Amino acid sequence: MVRALMTTQHFQGRVALITGASSGIGRAAALAYAARGAHVVLAARRESALRDAAREVEALGVRALPVRCDVTSEEDVARLISETRDAFGGLDFLVNNAGLGLYGPVEGFSEAQLRQVFEINFFGLVRVTRAALPLLRARAPGSQVLNVSSVLGHRGLPLLGGYGASKAAVNLLTESLRAELAAEGIRVLLVSPGLTETEFRDARLNAEGWRQDAIPLNAMSAEAVAQALVRASHRERRETVLTLPGRAMVLANRLVPGLFDRVARRIANPARKP
Ligand SMILES: NC(=O)c1ccc[n+]([C@@H]2O[C@H](COP(=O)([O-])OP(=O)(O)OC[C@H]3O[C@@H](n4cnc5c(N)ncnc54)[C@H](OP(=O)(O)O)[C@@H]3O)[C@@H](O)[C@H]2O)c1
Repeated sequence: MVRALMTTQHFQGRVALITGASSGIGRAAALAYAARGAHVVLAARRESALRDAAREVEALGVRALPVRCDVTSEEDVARLISETRDAFGGLDFLVNNAGLGLYGPVEGFSEAQLRQVFEINFFGLVRVTRAALPLLRARAPGSQVLNVSSVLGHRGLPLLGGYGASKAAVNLLTESLRAELAAEGIRVLLVSPGLTETEFRDARLNAEGWRQDAIPLNAMSAEAVAQALVRASHRERRETVLTLPGRAMVLANRLVPGLFDRVARRIANPARKP
């Protein structure tokens, strides 16, 4: 009870901007911040899905600002930030969540597919973060950037190298940015979900001829990831790796990377082109 009250105080009346808020983890995060009293700016490309999410946010008694924004567009991002400034004057939490997957072997995906994934997952994140810095500075100390990575950004697995590489780039950039902004009191946090049940698999790019893999049963819910995000935000946790298998993988890779290479090879062997 006391903890719930403290959590709410941390978010009450503050402003969260969430990219990729039209579905999955982003949409659940918008509702999780709103449930704790934060106003929410929701950004993504699908306007009707954004409006639906915004209505749900408003039903929780806070303000919602849906903004159509493709993070690959400099112009869209500039408009996102100026609309946020006009509506709220500043920004307390920037949640860089918009993302796209890529499935297939390094030999199989095209350079265009790889560039598209980096354009959204990495360059989009950099673009939004740079543009948002003046608004985050307006609320410092205490404002935050939360970057949504993946357990696959910590360890390469077969058929997921292109996607994992885009998230590994996010991880490294996060460390640099954390150091650069520390003196101003802007915290930079990394949250790395494991497998999560969302539209991610339907939306992702597939190398030609590579079929969708089977949907595993042990995926997290988007709501559980959203709760982890607000928890990380409240506790200012610099790094959160989600799911027990995800944490085990990151730890095993650190302690016994050679052994983990053998495990990864086993995963690769049965993965055949259809
Ligand atoms: N699902 C998983 O298993 C999993 C695991 C680890 C990490 N993640 C990460 O979690 C984040 C959210 O993914 P999710 O699982 O919630 O998948 P999702 O349901 O497919 O959500 C992806 C979101 O990103 C938005 N988006 C995609 N391209 C965009 C662009 N160019 N500009 C603006 N928004 C864009 C989509 O909205 P529009 O299409 O409307 O633009 C959508 O709202 C991603 O960064 C993903 O890499 C997911």
